Order: sequence, then structure tokens, then C-alpha cells
Amino acid sequence: MNTKLLFPENFIWGAATASYQIEGAWNEDGKGESIWDRFSHTPGKILNNDTGDVADDHYHRYREDVALMIKLGLKAYRFSISWPRILPMGIGRVNQPGIDFYSRLVDELLEAGIQPFTTLYHWDLPQVLFEAGGWPVRSTAEAFVEYTDVITRALGDRVKHWMTHNEPSVVANLGYLHGEHAPGIKGNIVSALKSAHHLLLSHGWAVPLIQQNSPGSEVGIVINANHTPSASASVPDRQTRLEQDAIWVRLYLEALAGRQYPAELTHFISKQGLLPEGTKYIQPGDMEDIATPIDFIGLNFYRRTVIRNTEVPEDQNLPQTLFPAPKNDENYTEIGWEVYPEGLLSVLGRLHFEYQIPKIYVTENGCSYSDAPGDDGLVRDEHRTRYLREHLRMAHQAIQIGIPLAGYFVWSLFDNFEWAYGYSQRFGIIWVDYETQERIIKDSGHWYSQVIKSNAVD
Ligand code: FCB
Repeated sequence: MNTKLLFPENFIWGAATASYQIEGAWNEDGKGESIWDRFSHTPGKILNNDTGDVADDHYHRYREDVALMIKLGLKAYRFSISWPRILPMGIGRVNQPGIDFYSRLVDELLEAGIQPFTTLYHWDLPQVLFEAGGWPVRSTAEAFVEYTDVITRALGDRVKHWMTHNEPSVVANLGYLHGEHAPGIKGNIVSALKSAHHLLLSHGWAVPLIQQNSPGSEVGIVINANHTPSASASVPDRQTRLEQDAIWVRLYLEALAGRQYPAELTHFISKQGLLPEGTKYIQPGDMEDIATPIDFIGLNFYRRTVIRNTEVPEDQNLPQTLFPAPKNDENYTEIGWEVYPEGLLSVLGRLHFEYQIPKIYVTENGCSYSDAPGDDGLVRDEHRTRYLREHLRMAHQAIQIGIPLAGYFVWSLFDNFEWAYGYSQRFGIIWVDYETQERIIKDSGHWYSQVIKSNAVD
């Protein structure tokens, strides 16, 4: 038997969700339309044309859901606010029933001794703001500041952990370059980089406002970074790796750390003939604003992606030991992501050693497996338990070597609407029957609850 690995006292054990993925009630109580409402209502955008119209119906069942969190013994719950519930037109008129919903949720959590960790933007932009230009335009960053002010005034007395954005690189790249996520723009690199810049700028502008409206709170941002080695030591593979890393990760970390955007980005823009127009959106003072000091970085970690340059033939003479295994390998979850727990340690090390982040939370980590309840009503999802255990062992090791990791949030508390994959992927530690809205804590959830109770992983 393995020895138990004990976590520090006060380590924060949590689980995470996001508004559009669980709430439903997409047009109730004065909520405005979001880009995800519009995108999912457009045929052909989401697998099986699924929508978040009902999702987990959490908007109506939040009390029952907090009761499940109590059952699991969660110390913290990470959720996001739907911007168009608060400001249906993006700016201007405030929708009080939207504020009341989150206010009730926060009270319910605090009464249960569960700390709310609140994300301001987990992708559901008011549709009207997209129509006014979306993230590629600066006025969207200004609107985000107004929204931040309204919601942090309302909840700032009780919420003490705030995250401005969730995975801005996914917003910029999947939303405005590849078009797989709302608003579905198949753009060019400049529209993605402009979006990234305005997301970061809105973050930097929001930080002092949150501190003012929520005294004594911690403020951070959530970055996604996976383990991304190059497939070989060949120059094209390594170059591709550097470029991908610049677009997906370094752009954000460098800017937040007060450095410049990676040089590879200007190179991209010029390669596509988009200079000098392509960098005009960066105004004097912007980089300083983006680097406004924060209290923590949230890391979302899921997998390893081995990067190779597919445009050139592989050089057979070079070591190629890092090729990914075939898709049906045990090491892949059902969404096709490679399981690689060691990568979590390596990315945490990168944040600590290269960027001296003062405090880190793993704000998402989890896996997609579709295990359903058996005849006895139990959900025996041992692959998920194994995934979580192995990642937690790496988290423990990170703490041992001095990385300031202060908490861990499983993605996700519930099975839910997985963006372009609709309901086909189940990440929850709680099973959700989408027909009846019945919830069942999976075996992994019971296991996690023991981890929390003992403050240790086996
Ligand atoms: C992350 C998202 C989260 C969820 C997981 C599986 O990129 O932040 O909403 O979809 O992936």
C-alpha cells in the first residue's frame, strides 16, 4: 500500500464549474443573450446541436447543489458569473434579479463554510458586445471594467477570491482565429492577438477596482498551460513548439510579468503581411496596466500535447521518443487528451521558477470518462479516480519542492455542457442525468471527499 501524502494545513480543496456549462435558464429573469446562446442556437456549431438552454438547471437547483458540495466536504467552490445576467446589454442597465441569484448562491456557500472563488469571465460575452466588435475592439475591455465594478460592488463584501478571466488564450484562439468556440470567427492572427491584448488589458484595469470594492480579497487570472514538448530535436519541430507556446502561453505570462509580448508574435504578423497595421492596437501604457500586480495565478492543466511541425518530413536520424501513443491507448481520456500527470509538476515548476508567481492554485484539472450508473446506482469511474490521484501526487511533490501551490479544484463538480462537444463528454465527479436532472456522486467524488477529509492523497 502507498503511504499517504499529507497536504499543508489550510490547503484549499475545491471543485469548479462555469455559468454557461451548468446554469440553464438562458433567457430567464431578465438575462440578456450571450455569444454562447447565439452560437449553440446556430445549427451545426455544437455536436448534436446541443445547447446550454437547460444544462444542469443549476440556476433553479443551486440549493440542492450546495447540499451536494457539503456532502463532499468541499472547502471552496469555483464558479463563474454570467455577464449578460448582470448587464443584459453589456453596459448600462443593471439586471437586479441576476445579481440576486449570485448573491443567494454566495450566501448559501458561506453558510455552509465553503469559500466562493468567483470567475468574472468564463466566456459568455453579452451578444450585443460581440456585435459592437467583441474582444478585438478596445471598448469591450472598457465594458468589462463597468461589469466588474457592478458585480464586485454587489458581492465584494462576501467573495474574497476573484479571477478576472478564464483561459484568455482559448477565447482569443478558438473564438477569433479557429472559430470552434463562440463567437465562431475564423479570423487571422491579428484578430486573435487583438483579442488577447484586450482581454489582458481588461484584466489589468479590473484588478484595482476589485481590490477597492472587495477589500482584503485575493485577485488573480486563470491561465491554461499543458505540457507541450516538441516531438523531436529537429529545428522545425522545436521552432513550431516555440511558436505555439508563444501564442498559447508565453504571450499571457510574459505580459502579466511586465515583459513584452514574445518576439515570435511580431514574426507571425509580418509573415502574413499584416505589419505595421497589425500592432497598432497596443497603446502607450497598456503593457504597464496589464502587469498590475496580482495575488495569484490559477492554472488549468489537463494533458500533454506533443508538438511537431507537420509541414516537413520527419528527420529519421533524430531521436523521436516523445511521439504520442495511438488514440486508443489507455493513456487517453475519452475526449482524446493524453494523460500525463508529470506534466503538472513541470508546468507548476515553470510558473514558479520562470515567473516567480507568488501563489498558485490549480483552478482546473480533470478528465472525461462516460461511466454511467450501474444497476446498483453506483458510478464506478475508476479511471477518473486514478487520474485525480496521480495528479494530486504531483501537486504534492510540487509543494515539497517549494512551489507555492495553495489549492486544487477538480474540473468539474458536475457533468455539464462541454462547449463544442455538447453533452458528449462527462468531466464531473457528480453524474447528471440530463433527462431527469438527477445527480449521483460518482465513486471518484466519494474518493475525493476522503482526500479532503484526511487532507491527504493515497
Ligand atoms: C477548460 C475550460 C472548462 C472545461 C474544461 C474541460 O478549457 O476552462 O470550461 O471545458 O476545459
